[in-house]
Amino acid sequence: MAISQLLSHFSYAYAGLVTGVLIIAYLKYRARWAPAGLRRVPGPRGLPLVGNTLQLGPRPQKQLTKWASEYGEVMQVQIGWENWVFLNTPQAVKEILDKQSAITSGRAPMPVGNDLISGGYRFLLMTYTPTWRKLRTIVHKLLTPSVSNTFMPSQLFEAKNLVFDLMTDNANEEDFYMHVRRYTTSVVLTSTYGRRVQKWQSEDVEEIYGLMKEFSDSTAPGAFIADMIPPLAKIPTFLQWWRERALRYQYRQTKIWMKYWSNLMLQIDQKQAPECFVKHFAETDYKAQGISEVQAAFVAGTMIEAGSETTSSSLNSAILYLAANPAVQARAHVELDEVVGLSASPTFEHETRLPYIRAMVKEILRIRPVTNIGTPHYATADVTYKDFFIPKGTVISIHQYAIHYDTSRYENPESFRPERYLNHPLKAGAYSGQSDPYARDHFDFGAGRRICPGMHLAENSLFITLAKILWAFHIKPPIQADGKLQTMDTSDDAYELGANTLPKSFKVRFIPRDITREQVTRQEWSDAQKDGFFLGQVKVNVDGVASA
Ligand code: HEM
Repeated sequence: MAISQLLSHFSYAYAGLVTGVLIIAYLKYRARWAPAGLRRVPGPRGLPLVGNTLQLGPRPQKQLTKWASEYGEVMQVQIGWENWVFLNTPQAVKEILDKQSAITSGRAPMPVGNDLISGGYRFLLMTYTPTWRKLRTIVHKLLTPSVSNTFMPSQLFEAKNLVFDLMTDNANEEDFYMHVRRYTTSVVLTSTYGRRVQKWQSEDVEEIYGLMKEFSDSTAPGAFIADMIPPLAKIPTFLQWWRERALRYQYRQTKIWMKYWSNLMLQIDQKQAPECFVKHFAETDYKAQGISEVQAAFVAGTMIEAGSETTSSSLNSAILYLAANPAVQARAHVELDEVVGLSASPTFEHETRLPYIRAMVKEILRIRPVTNIGTPHYATADVTYKDFFIPKGTVISIHQYAIHYDTSRYENPESFRPERYLNHPLKAGAYSGQSDPYARDHFDFGAGRRICPGMHLAENSLFITLAKILWAFHIKPPIQADGKLQTMDTSDDAYELGANTLPKSFKVRFIPRDITREQVTRQEWSDAQKDGFFLGQVKVNVDGVASA
């Protein structure tokens, strides 16, 4: 038999097998009815197999918010293979993700993105297993507010560097964007591995962002069919045409995260390791708990992946909204002038006396939540909420846009108004645990047992950078050819397509507010480079290396 005939027989058999798997799994999946006295969550009608996927459009938050106003506090939408239940009110989040967290802290199956490419090790994607629980306990301890505060000197140092860069290296009016990304990557890499990122064009950034891009491209909808239709992963492995490519990615990503891990282990052996998350992780009894080094290296890698682009995207969004809102800048300037004065820029010691800047941190997280399809958890058992029945195996997602843009709670929700949060003087963590669901400031860090463990680090970064930037500059739109200021676009069109919230590159000018602030900015960065900063108890120099 010629090879072509063999292949053609093979592909008929194969197509039949795939179709069979699909139909059986689909029928089984759809066959769940609500038990007596309960009802399924309402939602829009969709097409067979693909459900509502095609109705979502390029800006899913728009359609989802429209549906939320039709269907109320919970709604069901079929995206790809999965049924998603969106939680559209703080009460639904509290009752389902906080109070029933023992059964709503999973993650949806991703046979390629999680099992193959991540080898099952990627912390963010792991479902609710004993291993995830052990890891979460360690991560939680290493990122409490007080441990996170030990990285404040690094954040202060990097913020001085950032403000200097914005002032001296933004001639094309758009390089500020990558200076912000350098800041957040350096903070997260310093806190994880004790390594600074001094320049955006660097080996660390190329390697890490290359890995992150490869990973996000390979988990984008449609990238791997078996992630769209998980039952496909049950076909024999020799028929899984995607497997080899996915395993190649796994090999490359493991190599990168293991390189960072092994370097630090070497530094520990030589008693030269910087004070950082991974050093503290290595000092725990993780091995006795059955956690492998590869697993630990992926947890550290997840911190870097989860902590860099999220924070830079929020800060770049804040810059965009500030450029569009000079009145907000003017109010911040008044507060900063009263509290901080002119001779030095703000530090964390000013934080409690800068309520408007703190409110601004919350307002940017409200107005531009980190994703536009919410924060997906996964029901690992049947869930009941009021008279709604949510079967095991449903994705349950906090729909931040519905909650954050609720006009009964936020007047003109599209306007950037930090003053909304002047009555929320505490940090996000303090509000997340309160019993009144409406006492929460915002839902951008998620909820329940999977709430973002990096939120304290992220809030500290956003506070110190915004305080220093606003202390030093007027943030102005570019000047057009006709001499007028460009109108800044803060609409959805100013954001990239895709699930993550990422402002498109835009132009903006950082004008020093006066000559004294300009001199102070130069002096502070020059002094910081000479003085270095503290990582834990250890003084390090500008290269992040312990001073002799
Ligand atoms: C503005 C910045 C940030 C935002 C908006 C953000 C938001 C989120 C959200 C929504 C989740 C999922 C929560 C859930 O499932 O309920 C998450 C998870 C996570 N975040 Fe953040 N994050 C930010 C910064 C950071 C930073 C700086 C770090 C670490 C240094 C970090 C580490 C993590 C990790 C490790 C997870 C996975 C937790 C798990 O699956 O159990 N994040 N983050």
